[in-house]
This record gives sequence, C-alpha cells and structure tokens, in this order.
Amino acid sequence: NLFSFLSWAQVFGGGRSDGRAGCRVGILARKNTGHITMALAVDASRFEGVPMAPPDPILGVSEAFKADTSDLKLNLGVGAYRTEELQPAVLNVVKKAEKLMLEKGENKEYLPIEGFAAFNKATADLLLGADNPVIKQGRVATLQSLSGTGSLRLAAAFIQRYFPDAKVLISSPTWGNHKNIFNDARVPWSEYRYYDPKTVGLDFEGMIADIQAAPEGSFVLLHGCAHNPTGIDPTPEQWEKLADVIEEKKHMPFFDVAYQVNGFRVGFY
Ligand SMILES: Cc1ncc(COP(=O)(O)O)c(C=O)c1O
Repeated sequence: NLFSFLSWAQVFGGGRSDGRAGCRVGILARKNTGHITMALAVDASRFEGVPMAPPDPILGVSEAFKADTSDLKLNLGVGAYRTEELQPAVLNVVKKAEKLMLEKGENKEYLPIEGFAAFNKATADLLLGADNPVIKQGRVATLQSLSGTGSLRLAAAFIQRYFPDAKVLISSPTWGNHKNIFNDARVPWSEYRYYDPKTVGLDFEGMIADIQAAPEGSFVLLHGCAHNPTGIDPTPEQWEKLADVIEEKKHMPFFDVAYQVNGFRVGFY
C-alpha cells in the first residue's frame, strides 16, 4: 500500500544526510505478530511532483447526501437502485444467478485473455439479436473487460494506438467521465449538440449537423439507451437517419450501453 509505504519511507528512508535523493532497502520487524515486512524505501521527494487528484464530483454528491439530515432527501447522484428504505437493492435476477453459481461450485481459474466466452456470447446476442446474420457470419468480436469505465478506457487506448489521427465525438452533455477517459488516453474529442433546453428534448438537427461536420472517419460515441444525464434517446427513425450520416461520413459509431440490461429507464425489477 503506497501510503503505508510512504510513511515508512519518511520515517526510515527520508533521504540522505546530504539532502540528495537516496534509495535503500530496509527491514521492518513488527514486534507483536512476529511478521517481517520488507520494503524498498525510496526518498519520498520523488513523489512530490504527483498532485492530489481532485475529489470525484459524483461520489461527492453521495457524501453530501449521507451528511444531509432532511427526511425529504433524494440522491440523484449515483445511478443505482435503492429500496424504499434507501438501502442498496440487489436485483432478484442477480441474487438468483449468484445462488446458481454457488451451487455449481464454479472455480476461480484465470479467464482467457478475451474474457469469459459464455458472457461474451450472451452480450453479443443481447445487443445485436441472437439471430443477427453478422453473428452467424462470424463478423463479431467481443471482449470482456472490467466495467463500463474499463471498457471505455480500453476503447480509448485502442483508438489512440491504431487511429492516432482520429477524433472522438461525444454528446453535449454526457456522462462526466467520458471526457476524463479520453483525456487520459490522449484521444482528442469534441462535442456534438444533443440536449435542447428550449424543448427539454433532443436537438436532432444540431446533432446531425455536428456529426456531419466532423472530420471523416471520426469515432461517434453514442449512448445505447437511457442517455446519461438527460434520459433522452433518439426515436427509431432518428437512429436510422443517424446511421445513414455516420455511414456517409465513414465515421465509426460506438455505443456506451450503461443502462440497457438493467432496464433502468423502464424501471424493470
Ligand atoms: C453512460 C455511462 N457510461 C459508463 C458508466 C460507468 O460504468 P461502470 O460503473 O460499470 O464503470 C456509467 C456509470 O455511471 C454511465 O452512466
């Protein structure tokens, strides 16, 4: 753990007496347990250039919510199910799956590098439709990664490595971390119009115009369903039109599907 390591480094390894950076190996014996901990102590000043990350604004709302004593409080920060008593709610289907897995006594071996095959297949079937010809023709590649954030980070790294000149288009507004993820991966992005405050609806004309105006071959990030944060989605006809424009411009659509499966938008439980 970096922090215990740092405090240890400060006490035992805090630099050489001439004030220049030092590096040494020390052995620290814990008296009570008899365990021995060995650590490489590097002068703590080497970490001085690492700034403290800013607090996460979304999780900050959860903290403020906990601290608030009002009976009427509602937490609109994190998109997760809660019971009437405001406790985390685990979906019945998840409980059932966990029970089944326990009964089957699954092992904990490493998965293949592309992930758990049954999960990948179920994902493609769910998103594209099991009888979609592209699946039958073997034209679908599916990789499992850690969470939505991890998948987006992987996609960003892929774009940065193989399409270094391409830009990503994201909706305005969008889930806050989209910008952070592409910034961290050094992928340039710009926004397309999405929300129209006048109609409290989709600015479809603006969206199409911005996607049309983007450099050919851009990556267009779309929310599969239940757009975060507006909750506004294109109609089936608008999706058709979007597909035409994206194809014309040789753009690459890619979908962040955060809320399809749990039916967040329709409240399926
Ligand atoms: C649109 C969108 N994408 C990605 C994520 C992150 O997903 P995960 O929590 O699985 O990393 C969220 C979660 O809030 C989201 O709303």
